[in-house]
Amino acid sequence: MSVSNFLHQALLSVAVSVALLPGASTTVMAQEEHPYAKDFDVKANFRNICGFCHQSYGRQEGKGPQLMNSTKTDEELFNRIKNGKSGRMAAFGVAFSDDKIWAIVKFIRSLKPDVEPENPS
Ligand code: HEC
Repeated sequence: MSVSNFLHQALLSVAVSVALLPGASTTVMAQEEHPYAKDFDVKANFRNICGFCHQSYGRQEGKGPQLMNSTKTDEELFNRIKNGKSGRMAAFGVAFSDDKIWAIVKFIRSLKPDVEPENPS
């Protein structure tokens, strides 16, 4: 067998064994769409940190807009909380991990007029 033939054979067998490796096909795990922190007291944090501008847990307009019944998408609410808005609202991504921010978004989505807000369960 010539050297080049030998190399060709060797490369072919490597290629074949890679293709046949078990697990070469990727398995996509089912995931919660936006995992949120379940042990985080959103209500108290909201009252202390956000309540100054978002009145009545965001159920009413104040210095900041009303958040209840927002027409924004979850991602837009998330991004505003994480990244803030220059000159108007601080970026809370420094203070809160993503899963805590998703818990805040969940809290905002659950707001109803005249119903005492609860932490997301
Ligand atoms: C200093 C006042 C202030 C504080 C404190 C504040 N916000 Fe805001 N927030 C604003 C203002 C002003 C806007 C409107 C910014 C804009 O033009 O999009 C806003 C916008 C938002 C929006 C987007 C609403 C929409 O419909 O576009 C969300 C969600 C939000 N704030 C959540 C929070 C949360 C949660 C906190 C506490 C972690 C917080 N904010 C703290 C002033 C504040």
